[in-house]
Amino acid sequence: MPRKPLIAANWKMHKTSAEVRSFMSAVWPKVSDITDREMLICPPFPYIPLVDELRKSTSILLGAQNLYFEEKGAFTGEVSPPMLKDLGCEYVIIGHSERRGIFGESDELINSKMHAVIKCGIIPVLCVGERKEEREKNLTEQIILKQLEKNLKDLPETAFEKMVIAYEPIWAIGTGLNASTKDAHDAIALIREFIHSKYGDNSAQKTRILYGGSVKPENMKSYMDQEGIDGALVGGASLDPDSYSKLVKY
Ligand code: PGA
Repeated sequence: MPRKPLIAANWKMHKTSAEVRSFMSAVWPKVSDITDREMLICPPFPYIPLVDELRKSTSILLGAQNLYFEEKGAFTGEVSPPMLKDLGCEYVIIGHSERRGIFGESDELINSKMHAVIKCGIIPVLCVGERKEEREKNLTEQIILKQLEKNLKDLPETAFEKMVIAYEPIWAIGTGLNASTKDAHDAIALIREFIHSKYGDNSAQKTRILYGGSVKPENMKSYMDQEGIDGALVGGASLDPDSYSKLVKY
């Protein structure tokens, strides 16, 4: 079965409840005719219930941007996988470069989060990608493979039935400097080859691999035309309903 393209909106730390309401009421009429692509919205934690309420009677999927791996306990400020499940989240972004960079998340922590969400039945959107200096030193492949090796460590093959991985070169995020379609294609092919070699053909065929980093309505189609790119993880351009609907309708 072909993989359905996924257009994932990472709202990061943006929007008020009024802005969430106005986005949700404006976006659905623009995309309600789309059946061959999936739309995922990842709002900040406080607005998860609001997006869940406003997406009823739409096909929009709901995700979180982060979580902690423990089920419960003395972890001030954290949110657990069962809590996200309870709120209706089907997906969660794990290992975004802003979590790795600003909040110091290690590959080992990310691996624990991967295990926890899979156990809970939430689909991870695992982000991997290199920094500018690493690309300049030709270390891109090495960095991606190291992240995959550590972040996917000891996961069962069944985890790949629904897994999403996003290739997000860090230098392309929020900078307007998007990766070339060839670089995105090559990195995504490398990720699929890694999954193929470690977890078999079925896993490699089922895993959706997205590109992320300064995706805009104007460049979305050029990525989607590349063999093996199954969608996009979008920050800035996902905040406006008009722009997001154009991404979905690339
Ligand atoms: P951007 O962010 O689209 O604003 O570059 C992408 C991301 O961080 O997921």
